[in-house]
Amino acid sequence: MEQRAVVTAGTGGIGLETAMGLAAYGLAVTVVGRDAERGARAVERIATVATGGEPRFIAADLASLGDVRELAARLAAEGPLKVLVNNVGAMLADRQHTVDGIEATFVLNHLSPYLLTELLLDQLRADGPSRIVNVSSSAVRAAKRSFEDVEPPGGYYAFHWYGRAKLANLAYTLDLAQRLRGSGISVFAADPGGAATDMTNGTMRSPKIVSPALRPLWPLVRRLFARSTAGPASTAARSSIAAATDASLDGRTGLVIGPRATPVPAFRASTTPRTVDNVLRLSRRLAPVEHEPMTG
Ligand SMILES: NC(=O)c1ccc[n+]([C@@H]2O[C@H](COP(=O)([O-])OP(=O)(O)OC[C@H]3O[C@@H](n4cnc5c(N)ncnc54)[C@H](OP(=O)(O)O)[C@@H]3O)[C@@H](O)[C@H]2O)c1
Repeated sequence: MEQRAVVTAGTGGIGLETAMGLAAYGLAVTVVGRDAERGARAVERIATVATGGEPRFIAADLASLGDVRELAARLAAEGPLKVLVNNVGAMLADRQHTVDGIEATFVLNHLSPYLLTELLLDQLRADGPSRIVNVSSSAVRAAKRSFEDVEPPGGYYAFHWYGRAKLANLAYTLDLAQRLRGSGISVFAADPGGAATDMTNGTMRSPKIVSPALRPLWPLVRRLFARSTAGPASTAARSSIAAATDASLDGRTGLVIGPRATPVPAFRASTTPRTVDNVLRLSRRLAPVEHEPMTG
């Protein structure tokens, strides 16, 4: 029977390369993005390497929690689901709020993947063994670690708020892995390292994206960032592809798969009980799901 995988933000950048890797491996891949033309082009490219079922595209704006709920319903209707890759993420130069009135960096990097995952848990368990892969970033190290509310106190600094939203998602990911032990669902975080994509193109033009404390180091920060994001998206996709398919990970869970496509130690702050509790409380309040949070 067809084994389906979903890759969010899978019509470009690292997501498209991930989708191609999963399709070449033999999974039938559904990619999600906002733009239908881009989606159609992605499906054409994926079809050239696919060895399993036919690729598909579903349009959804993952900044909208309503769209995420509709997407989950459509995916549930598509049939058995083996792999969910929550690849969507963004570093936004300026503070923005979504149609739901929630700060957009937090939504795109954490809340939207959180909600899609929670809405698909029952299906992933029924179709197990299955895998969830949440795309992380080394920017978690630059995060302000306060999760009492969506927006941390102080000014908006894109790099740090991005890292903070990724840290929230990493804390959720590793905690979910423990809660789902024995359920047949493995949960991994994948750190792609860096790549030249829409997201990184031009991000580092202004020192405004880092906190005033870091600004004296701006030339160094910019150089490091430029170097680490110079590579191709196909290389950066290796961590997600390995997390989704590598047989050596069968039966394992709660690992961070690093840029070399092998497990790396998790950033310690992501497992602090206070961080995990606050992230879960905030996520459940902002994006409630009907079922009780599932345990293994
Ligand atoms: N690039 C890096 O160096 C780097 C480093 C560390 C981590 N990451 C992480 O890797 C993941 C992929 O990054 P990337 O650099 O490949 O990003 P990207 O190039 O910006 O991703 C482009 C893809 O995202 C889709 N997309 C953007 N906004 C969307 C929305 N609101 N709803 C649905 N789809 C949306 C685009 O399709 P549409 O425009 O049609 O919607 C397209 O498919 C992210 O989680 C990112 O945080 C990237």
